[in-house]
Amino acid sequence: MGKGLFITFEGADGCGKTTQMNLLAEYLKKENIPFILTREPGGKGLGEKVREILLNYEGPVSDRCESFLFLADRAQNIDIIVNPAVEKGKIVLCDRHIDSTVAYQGYGRGLDIERINMLNDIATNGKKPDLTFVFDIDVETSMKRVGTEKDRLESAGIEFHNRVRNGYLELAKQEPKRIKVLDATKSIEEIHKQVIEIFTSLIS
Ligand code: TYD
Repeated sequence: MGKGLFITFEGADGCGKTTQMNLLAEYLKKENIPFILTREPGGKGLGEKVREILLNYEGPVSDRCESFLFLADRAQNIDIIVNPAVEKGKIVLCDRHIDSTVAYQGYGRGLDIERINMLNDIATNGKKPDLTFVFDIDVETSMKRVGTEKDRLESAGIEFHNRVRNGYLELAKQEPKRIKVLDATKSIEEIHKQVIEIFTSLIS
């Protein structure tokens, strides 16, 4: 079997990326294309334990510690889940990945982007997604969608989330071939159609 593909879903909290990832998964199932789903932080086993700390820990968390936890989870996800599946010819759909760390810890928290790129490179052992969807949404709409029950990162404030959004757009400008920006305020069906178009043009 040929090599699979690694596709990531990115964007602000409440942008609808998880919904779109699940819709693409349904499409792949219908088409009998082998795939798996994973997410960062999380995935399974140890990754889910790291996720629990990252999202719910209530004491102070240093920005660098936060970054290292995301990166540790990433290394685990790549080695234990993503690479083995891609090697078997599967399509791996991953909810958040390297670009989240650049957008949130880099642009959002203000950590040095060059260093984050370097650390991402170490965490992934140089692997990059074949395709990345960024679901772009204004902060006001995304915060409305998230509602009042916010986790630690969702509670970081409007300015923070504006920087995150701009970070994603900046990344897409730098890597237009890999990163496709979609308007996340459109209807679920409309966005799904665009996702399928981009996906099929990649595999054909
Ligand atoms: P997500 O899975 O989208 O949260 P939820 O399922 O609750 O919508 O992402 C978890 C949070 O972690 C999200 O606020 C973004 C943040 N995050 C970072 O700050 N850096 C990272 O590298 C990653 C992967 C996520």
